[in-house]
Formats: sequence, C-alpha cells, structure tokens
Amino acid sequence: MKRISLTQYLVEQQREHGRIPAQLRLLIEVVARACKRIAIAVNKGALGDVLGSAHSENVQGEIQKKLDVISNEVLIEANEWGGHLAAMASEEMDSIHVVPNRYPQGEYLLLFDPLDGSSNIDVNVSIGTIFSVLRKISHTPGVSEDDFLQPGKQQAAAGYCVYGPQTTLVLTLGNGVALFTLDRETGSWLLTQTDVQVPQDTKEFAINMSNMRHWDSPVRQYIDECLAGRDGPRGKDFNMRWVASMVADVHRILTRGGVFLYPWDQREPDKPGKLRLMYEANPMAFIVEQAGGAATNGRERILDIVPSKLHERVSVLLGSRNEVERVTAYHAAAAAEAGATEGRA
Ligand code: AHG
Ligand code: MN
Ligand code: MN
Repeated sequence: MKRISLTQYLVEQQREHGRIPAQLRLLIEVVARACKRIAIAVNKGALGDVLGSAHSENVQGEIQKKLDVISNEVLIEANEWGGHLAAMASEEMDSIHVVPNRYPQGEYLLLFDPLDGSSNIDVNVSIGTIFSVLRKISHTPGVSEDDFLQPGKQQAAAGYCVYGPQTTLVLTLGNGVALFTLDRETGSWLLTQTDVQVPQDTKEFAINMSNMRHWDSPVRQYIDECLAGRDGPRGKDFNMRWVASMVADVHRILTRGGVFLYPWDQREPDKPGKLRLMYEANPMAFIVEQAGGAATNGRERILDIVPSKLHERVSVLLGSRNEVERVTAYHAAAAAEAGATEGRA
C-alpha cells in the first residue's frame, strides 16, 4: 500500500481545504524535522552521551536533563531562520526567544515542551515533544510576552511526537487529528491514520495515585468510584495506567480511550496544578477535542482559559468525553455545595 508523506498531506490540505498558509506548512515541516533529530539523539542513549542531568535548573525550578537542553536547542536552531516565526517560547526558557534580526520575521508563534517525560529518559520509557502554534495577532512591530497570552482555542495547530517503540507524530490543524509514523529507512514521516477518534466511554484512568492523600474531594470521589469497580456506583471494573510521560498517556487515550488527570492538589496549594497551560495542556486539549474527547481544569474548558503569564500552570482532566464531563460535574457540585455552605454561614 502506498502511503503519503507528511509533505504531501500538508500540500493536499492546503490545496483541497485552503487551510494551511505557506508559513504554517513550513513551520510544521520544520518542527517535524526537528523531532526527527531529537528522535535520533534519544535513540543513541548512552552511546550519544545524552543521558543524565545537565546540572542546571529551569524557570520552573526543575533540574534539567541533558536531553531537555539538547531538544530545546534543536527546536530553536531549526525554527529561527525559516521566516515563518516571530518568536518562540519553551518550558525550558525563562522568557520568549524572538527571531534574531538577521532573519525575516514570520507571523506565527511557536510554543513547546521540548522533552516531555524527563523522568523516563534514563529508564528507556517513552518520552516526547509537545508543540502549540499561535498567530501573532498584533500588527505592532516587535514581539512581547503579551502576544503569547491567547486562549488555547486560538491555536492554529498543535501536535506531539512520541519517542517510543515507534516514533509517531500526531497533528491537528483544527480539522481532525492525523497520525504519522517515522519510517527510519527512508527518514520520512508517513501518514498512518486520519480522523483519530477518542472513544466517548472508557474503563481506564490515568492518575498518579501516590498523591491521593493530597487530592480535592471531587477527584477523590471520582477515583473512589472507579476503584469500587463492578459492585460500586459505576457498575464496572476500571483499569489504571500511569506512564508519567504525558505524551505517552495521552497517546494511549487517543488510541483506545481513557481519562487522564493531573489535578490541583494540596502539596502546593498556591499553584493551580503541575502541568503547564501553554506547553502541555493547551496543545493536548486541542488534539483531544479535535478527536472528539474533552479537556477541562475541573471548572472550565482548558481551551477557554485566558493565560495571565507564559509559564502558567493548570489542573488537567482530559480524554474520553463522558468521563471528563462526569468528573467536571463532580467539581461543579462541590463548588455549589461550598457556595451554599458559605451562604448559610
Ligand atoms: P516534563 O518532563 O516536561 O517536566 O513533564 C512531566 C509531566 C508529564 O509529562 C507527566 O504527566 C507528569 O509530569 C508526571 O508527573 P509525576 O512524576 O508527578 O507523576
Ligand atoms: Mn512535560
Ligand atoms: Mn519537558
């Protein structure tokens, strides 16, 4: 069977649906090429001196791994000269990276988590790269952090790459989700699935159970009911998976359904969550919604959140629509109850 390449897919999307301006097409191709380079570095492992710590700290206060730093550099270097970008922002950089003056400035903004699942690098478990694309809306010269502070529903594209048993690229341009697999012999990304759909129902959840004692009551109620299985209120047994690489957990959900939760918890009550809105939650929410699933922070749709800062964090519940709606409803009920109690006091 003849499979089409990412390039052909993008050209056909542009020709048939007129949905991809030339700059966006170039951007996707360049990011896919950068992911290929990261995949090569990941595969080399100990032979490439890419394992272990970089002995530096990022803006989130996390110790960077060598591959966090390498992947960030690969993405920046690949993207700064093509004329398709105005600026980039990354989980691994304190502030935005504006395209240097020596290159033409494009109309897009690229945001990325260069290496997702850092704790899995050295143990040879699936990791990935997540990216999000926004348009620079203001026509004023120059770029500032404010240009990035757009709600996720304004993303022009989003995707992620999984460096696992297979190297796969998942992409949305806002008209469904397509999946590409890297053919290592030819070096091409080949289209292996279109119109990816997340099943509406599931019997599988993904959450880091070690944080259970810190959860809020709606999350606790939801998981308790899942754990009660066939004899509980859900009337069915649930299975649990937690890879600790969001890309791998989301990819499983896209493939066979499931619900992913990284909720706010009491460990750091002042932070809305652990995951980053702009580099992780928004692109994944866009992809999951485009595949028929749902994504909320427990109170509102993730894609509606207007960010107030670049490195904003957020609570994340995403995946099979009926489960996300259920756990979101538990949050609404708890908020209404708290409101009523306050009113009575
Ligand atoms: P990153 O490696 O980019 O910092 O992201 C790790 C994230 C996410 O991929 C995963 O779902 C979560 O952190 C795992 O967190 P725990 O180790 O707390 O389970
Ligand atoms: Mn991450
Ligand atoms: Mn990361």
